[in-house]
Amino acid sequence: MNSFLKFDKELIDSAMDKALVSVSSDFDKIVEAMRYSALGGKRLRGILTLEFAKLFGCDYSDSISYAVAVECIQAYSLIHDDLPCMDDDDMRRGKPSCHIAFGEANALLAGDALLTHAFCAISESDFAKKHPERAVNAIRVLSDYAGFRGMVGGQVLDLEAAEKEVDTDTIFTIHRLKTGALIKAAVLMGCYAAGADEENCILSEKYASEFGFAFQIADDILDFNGDYDTCELNSCVKIYGLEKAKSNFLLHVAEANSVLEKLEQKGFDTEFLKKLLEYLCVRVDKHQND
Ligand code: IPE
Ligand code: IPE
Ligand code: MG
Ligand code: MG
Repeated sequence: MNSFLKFDKELIDSAMDKALVSVSSDFDKIVEAMRYSALGGKRLRGILTLEFAKLFGCDYSDSISYAVAVECIQAYSLIHDDLPCMDDDDMRRGKPSCHIAFGEANALLAGDALLTHAFCAISESDFAKKHPERAVNAIRVLSDYAGFRGMVGGQVLDLEAAEKEVDTDTIFTIHRLKTGALIKAAVLMGCYAAGADEENCILSEKYASEFGFAFQIADDILDFNGDYDTCELNSCVKIYGLEKAKSNFLLHVAEANSVLEKLEQKGFDTEFLKKLLEYLCVRVDKHQND
């Protein structure tokens, strides 16, 4: 992983390690399954939370419980996404999926426990005692955007789309919900941690929206193995072709950068968030040159 992300990632990894501990031997098995799946990944959503909080003046030590929460939701969503009744994937984050390692029932429960722990992480933190109204805002946006009006809704549409050919509008909606909603929640939680004003929240959400589309297209480009026949029906590469997918990706990156310019004009230091967009571009470029 890119060195500029290392500090934030390690901060989140260490907070997740401390948050997910067994309090009684009765629960060792489920906590083991939770840790197996939650201690890994790039942490991009948690990093977005920390960095938007920082952008608007909130310390890492205060926003970290929000970052843990969004990464708990991310880990739960991936465990459930891999289950046989969903995508039926045997591998995740370079190792056997949770249900392969611990069985289906434990994987389902580990996902459930990570989902609910997200809200515990926010509400039991010292920061929530200091700023309860910010904690309520964070819980509201995370529970809304991760639920049926956001990520879960997107997963439903995505499963339907895997069975048939879908138009570009539907794909757009799927990506906005399945991937974009949690990324927006991550960014807005950072804004709320810092008590950012409405105008800054709106600008930040626009960045998140463009980042989400760019991220999903990048993911589809990275998944593409050069064969359109075996490419998934709902992949941007299948729908647009590789070249158009790449140019759409760049359009979203450019839109996200133009939001950052506006924030910069308002005096905010957007260096890190610019680098995050460059990081997406480098990932896509590297793959294309493979
Ligand atoms: C994977 O997200 C799921 C998608 C929305 C494409 P990431 O690629 O961010 O997964 P981790 O958390 O780093 O493993
Ligand atoms: C990941 O989506 C799950 C969620 C966004 C909730 P995908 O099924 O498209 O991603 P991978 O390929 O399993 O990571
Ligand atoms: Mg899926
Ligand atoms: Mg999947």
